[in-house]
Amino acid sequence: MTDLQVRKMRFAFADYDVPFLWNEENPAFSSMANAVSLLAIGFEKMIVNMIREAMPLITDPEVAEEADAFVRQEGQHSTAHRQHANALIRRYPGLQETLNEVIAEFDRLTVNTSVEYRLAYTADLEATFTPVFKLMLDNDATLFRPGDDRVASLFIWHFVEEVEHRSSALIIFDSVVGSDVYRMRMAPSIFRHVLKVIRLACVGFNKHVPLEERKVDALSMFANYRRGQKLRKWLPFLHAEDNGPMPRAFDHLPLGEQLVALAGIIRSQLPKHNPDHEKLPALADVWFERYEAGYDVSHWYTADAVAP
Ligand SMILES: [Fe+2]
Ligand SMILES: [Fe+2]
Repeated sequence: MTDLQVRKMRFAFADYDVPFLWNEENPAFSSMANAVSLLAIGFEKMIVNMIREAMPLITDPEVAEEADAFVRQEGQHSTAHRQHANALIRRYPGLQETLNEVIAEFDRLTVNTSVEYRLAYTADLEATFTPVFKLMLDNDATLFRPGDDRVASLFIWHFVEEVEHRSSALIIFDSVVGSDVYRMRMAPSIFRHVLKVIRLACVGFNKHVPLEERKVDALSMFANYRRGQKLRKWLPFLHAEDNGPMPRAFDHLPLGEQLVALAGIIRSQLPKHNPDHEKLPALADVWFERYEAGYDVSHWYTADAVAP
C-alpha cells in the first residue's frame, strides 16, 4: 500500500499582485523558481497523459495504486503552479506566449515519443529532485524565507512532496520497462530537453519582464551563456545584447553542500539507484508534522506568528 497522501493546496495568488522578483534578495533564484513553475505545468501535464497510457501496462496492483497516488499529487502541483503562472501573466501578459511554448514542448513529447521514453524521462528527472531540493530546503533561510510567502510556500510544499514520492516514478518505470540500460541511454536526450525548456522560459522572461523588475539576466543560469556574454562584452563588435546582471542563485551556499547535491544528481542516474536510501532534508519532516497538526502550510513563514 502506498503512503502517499494527496493534499489540496491553494496559495491566494489571486488576492494581490505576485511579483516576478518574489525574493528580492536573490533575483537569480526568483527567476529560476519562476521557470520551474512554468516547466512544472508542462511536465505534469505530460505525466497525467503518460500514466493514463501506462496504466493498462501495469500488472501489479500495488504499483497501480502508487501510480494513481503519484499522478494525483502531480495534478495538485500542476493546478497550483498554473495559479502562480496566471498571476505572473496578469502582470506580464507576454508570458502567456512563453507558457504556451513550454507546454507545447511537453505536448510534443506526448505525441512524438513512446510511453517507455516518457516513463524514463519522468524517472530520470524525478530522481534528481531529492538531492537538488535537499540543497534548497536545507538553505530555506536565504532562498525562501525572505520571499513572498505564497510563492515560498508553494515551492516548499511542492518540493517536500517530490521528496515524499521520490521513488514513485522509478517504481512505475521498473514495472513497465524495467531496464536501467534504457533509462541511462535516454538520459542525455532527456536532460537536453529539460534544459531546452528551461532556456525557453528564460528567453521569455528576458523578453516579457522588464529588467527593472527582474533584476537579472534570466539566461545567466546557463554557464555557456554567461561565458558567451562576457566574451561579447569584451568584444564590442559582437554586439552583445545586455539583458542585465548575471548573479548566480546558489553562489552564497556552502560549496560542500553544492558538491553533495551534484554527486547526488550523478548517483541518481546510475543503475540500481534506490531513492529510498537518499538523505532527506530536515525541513520535509517538519513540514509533514506541521501539516498533520493542522498548521497553515500555505503561509509557511507568516503563519509562524499565529502558530500555537
Ligand atoms: Fe510535482
Ligand atoms: Fe514529482
